[in-house]
Order: sequence, then structure tokens, then C-alpha cells
Amino acid sequence: MANKLRLEGKVAIITGAASGIGEASARLFAEHGARIVVADIQDELGLKVVESIGADKASYRHCDVTDEKQVEDTVAYAVEKYGTLDIMFSNVGTLNFCSVLDMDMMAFDETMAINVRGSALAVKHAARFMVDKKIRGSIICNASLESIVAGAASLAYIASKHAVVGIVKAAARELGGHGIRVNGVSPYGIATPLVCKAYGLDAGPLEAAIYGNGNLKGVRLSTMHVAQSALFFASDESAYTSGQNLAVDGGLSSILKLQ
Ligand SMILES: NC(=O)c1ccc[n+]([C@@H]2O[C@H](COP(=O)([O-])OP(=O)(O)OC[C@H]3O[C@@H](n4cnc5c(N)ncnc54)[C@H](O)[C@@H]3O)[C@@H](O)[C@H]2O)c1
Repeated sequence: MANKLRLEGKVAIITGAASGIGEASARLFAEHGARIVVADIQDELGLKVVESIGADKASYRHCDVTDEKQVEDTVAYAVEKYGTLDIMFSNVGTLNFCSVLDMDMMAFDETMAINVRGSALAVKHAARFMVDKKIRGSIICNASLESIVAGAASLAYIASKHAVVGIVKAAARELGGHGIRVNGVSPYGIATPLVCKAYGLDAGPLEAAIYGNGNLKGVRLSTMHVAQSALFFASDESAYTSGQNLAVDGGLSSILKLQ
């Protein structure tokens, strides 16, 4: 248990919280006193996450972030269940691989629908409630190192994550007048199901490759490191920080490795 509860009394929705970074964030936010709506499409996994966090601190809601009605209903659910909404962590994303030359436009559209439309909808419906109720809330979007530099992902993913940063900046600009902060987190690589599936690799070899290509040695990026950055943006410790895209990448996006 943390020494100081940094989200005491706050209510958060975390999309894509049945797995990976979203799951770690749900655990960390709950540990810091928040009540959490775990929103995902993997119902069984999501319910297990809630069970392990504790039904007094978290609840599960099926929510496909590409469907506006489901996103709107998820915000309404959080408000009905916990009385308010202070934090939206729009964390869902999808990743697939193909070369520019063989680009599958169905996969391109799906990536845009989940990563861009899904983020925009989460921002929209959280903000509507916060503005209406005069809540000076915090909205966080999970982008990626690929929102800053083109790394190993597909054109669709890289383009979509650059768009997520556009969403963060546009929303921070408009919502600043209402006291609402909007920020992004941009992790380097972690061998979550998303990445293992996209690369067709098991976690072990993938982790080794990620570590080998990384800049910062002696530490392996984990879902909890990203959750800690999201916690900073969710908490009052970032009370005057908005419109930022925080790279959780061990410095990789700031350097050019020449050997
Ligand atoms: N793992 C990495 O290396 C890495 C790096 C940079 C950014 N990210 C970003 O982190 C975020 C979380 O990914 P992760 O690595 O934790 O992956 P993950 O596969 O562990 O989790 C993703 C979750 O999103 C859910 N999801 C997928 N489509 C959805 C939809 N339409 N509606 C609701 N939920 C949906 C999945 O069911 C899953 O639970 C993504 O936005 C990803 O792009 C991950």
C-alpha cells in the first residue's frame, strides 16, 4: 500500500483495463484511493481484474471504444455507480504490422477507429460530464514512443498515435478554460499481449529485443512504470500540467544512437 493516497476520493475510467498497461493502472489508481471503472471488451479478463482489485474499489463495464453509445454509457455508468468522474485514462490501442507497400486498408481503418476515434470519444464524453458538472478533471491518453518518432510499428499505428497527440493538444486547448487538463503518456516497448500478437513472438524473446534496442540500461520498462506516469497526470501533483506528451522511453526519443 502506498504511503500517501494520491487519488483519494477520485473516480476514474480506464479503457482497455483488462490487460497490460490499463490493468496495471487500474491496480495502481485503486491502491491510491480511486474507485475505478475497468472498461474493456474482454469481459472475462476484465471481471477477473476487478475481482482481484476488490469489488469495493472497482467495477467492470463492457465498452467497445469505437462505439460512441458504449463510451457515453460507460461515463453514465461511472457517474451512477460512484457519483462523479474525475479521471479518464483513454488507454485502449491496437497494433498491427504490414509494410507501406502492402498496406491493408481494412487494418488501417480499424487502427484509426480504435486508436483515434476511440481516444476522441473517451475525451469527448469525459469532458462533457466534467464541463457540465464543473469538475476540474484530468484526461490522459495513451499514445506511444511511435507518436514522437517512427520506430518499428506500421504506418497506420504511427499515424494513429501522432493523431492521439493531436487529440491531447486540441482538447487541452479547448478544455483549459474549464480547468480540465489533458495529457499523453508515450511508452517505449513492453511485451504485452498487444505487442506479442503483433510481432508473433513470445514475451521472452520480445523483452530481450526491446531491452537490447533500448537506451536506458539496468531497468526494464514495465506496465507499472507507465501506470506511474499516468498516476502523475491523474493526481493533483500535475495540477498545472496540460497538453504534454510524456515519453516513458528511457530517453530513446531524445537521442540518435551512432556507433
Ligand atoms: N506495450 C507497448 O509496448 C506499448 C508501447 C506504446 C504504447 N502502447 C499503448 O498502450 C495501450 C495499451 O496497450 P497494452 O500494451 O497494455 O496492450 P494490451 O493488449 O495488454 O491491452 C489492450 C487492451 O485494450 C483492449 N481493447 C482492444 N480494443 C478495444 C476496444 N475496441 N474497446 C475496448 N477495449 C479494447 C483489449 O481487450 C486489451 O485488454 C495501447 O494504446 C498501446 O498502443 C503500448
